[in-house]
Amino acid sequence: MHLQRLQLFSFKNHTEAHFAFCSQLNCITGPNGSGKTNVLDAVYYLANAKSYFNPADSQIMQHGSSFFSVHGWFADGDKEDEILATFTDKGKKTLKKNDKTYNRLADHIGMIQTVFITPYDISLVLEGSEERRRFMDFTLCQTNREYLEVLSTYKRILEHRNSFLKKMEGRNPDPDIMDSYDSRLVPAANRIFGWRQDFISEFQPWFQEYYGWLCQTTETVALDYESELITEAYSDILRRNLDRDRVLQRTSSGIHKDDLVFSLQGQPLKKFGSQGQIKSFVIALKLAQYRYFLEKTGHKPILLLDDIFEKIDALRAGKLMELVARDFFGQIIITDTHAERVKNHLKSLDTEQVFFELGG
Ligand SMILES: Nc1ncnc2c1ncn2[C@@H]1O[C@H](COP(=O)(O)OP(=O)(O)OP(=O)(O)O)[C@@H](O)[C@H]1O
Ligand SMILES: [Mg+2]
Repeated sequence: MHLQRLQLFSFKNHTEAHFAFCSQLNCITGPNGSGKTNVLDAVYYLANAKSYFNPADSQIMQHGSSFFSVHGWFADGDKEDEILATFTDKGKKTLKKNDKTYNRLADHIGMIQTVFITPYDISLVLEGSEERRRFMDFTLCQTNREYLEVLSTYKRILEHRNSFLKKMEGRNPDPDIMDSYDSRLVPAANRIFGWRQDFISEFQPWFQEYYGWLCQTTETVALDYESELITEAYSDILRRNLDRDRVLQRTSSGIHKDDLVFSLQGQPLKKFGSQGQIKSFVIALKLAQYRYFLEKTGHKPILLLDDIFEKIDALRAGKLMELVARDFFGQIIITDTHAERVKNHLKSLDTEQVFFELGG
C-alpha cells in the first residue's frame, strides 16, 4: 500500500498543501520551520487518527482556524482507498474511509501501517516507562485487533477500580465489589502479559540483527520485558497489595506498570550509552518494528524518515540507504533541510524518486 496523494487544510503551518507522491522514494526539503516534519505527521495522522507528537487535536489545527483536514488517497494493487480526517473547533473529529464515517476510530487502526523514525524518538530511552509501553502497545495494536480490544477493556476496568478506591477515601472497600473488578481485570491483564511476552521474544532477534548491521559492531544489545506478572500471579499481587491500593486510592500493580529494559553490553543503555549508541538503538528498534509489521501483515509499511541525514552519521545513513537500495522498503518519505545533500545520498539508487521543496 502506498499514499498517492495528500491534501492538507489548516494542518499546523500548512494552510493548504497538496502532494502527489510516488510509490518509492519521496523527499521533502526546506528550511527549518517550513513544515517538513508536519507533512510526515499528517501521513501518520491518516494511519492512526492522531498526531505522532501531540494528542491534542486542537493544537494541530492551524492557529486562528476553525477546522483542519487531512485527506489521503492510498493505492494497493488495483484497490484505492480514500481516507479523510477532519476536526472542528467544536471538538468534533470525524474519520471517513471511502466517504463512510467510522463509528469508532479504533476500527481504522491497523489498516495502514507507518513506521516513523524521528530525532524525537530518543525519548524512548530517556523518558519513563510509559513511552516504552506505548511503543509496545502501538506495535501490537497495529497487528492484533484482539490486543487493542483487551487493552482498552483493561484500561476501562482499571479506571473504574481506581475511581472506586478514590471514592472510598482510604476506608476498607467492600470485598464483593473489589472481587467484581478483579475477576475482570485479571484475565485481561494475563492476556496482555502473554502477548507482550511473545512479542518481545519474536521482536528481539530482529532488533539485535539490525543494531549489529547498522553499527557494524558485535556489541550486545538487549530488550528485557519487565513485569510483576513474571514472578507472581496477578490475582495474588492484587490481594497482597490491597491495603496499599486502599491507602494510595489507586491500583499500584498490573500490566500498566510494565517496562522494557534497554541494555548495551549488559549495562543500562540510558546510563552508559553514548549519544550515537542511543540513536542507533532507537533506529534499530524502528527497523525491527518495520520488520514485525511486514512479517505479520505481509505488507510493507510506509516509512517516514525525519531529518535522517542531519541526525545520524554517514556510516549509519549509508547503511540505511543500502536497505533502501535492496528493495527492502516500499514507500518512503524523507525530509531534510538540504536538497543537495539528500540528492547526493540518493543519486546512486535505482529507484523512482520525487522531490518537494517547501518554502520558509
Ligand atoms: N497549530 C499550529 N498552527 C500554526 N503553525 C503551527 C502549528 N503547530 C506547529 N506550527 C508551526 O509549524 C512549524 C514547524 O513545522 P515543522 O516542525 O514541520 O518544521 P520542519 O520543516 O520540520 O523544521 P526543522 O527543519 O526545524 O525540523 C513551526 O514554525 C510551528 O510554529
Ligand atoms: Mg523537522
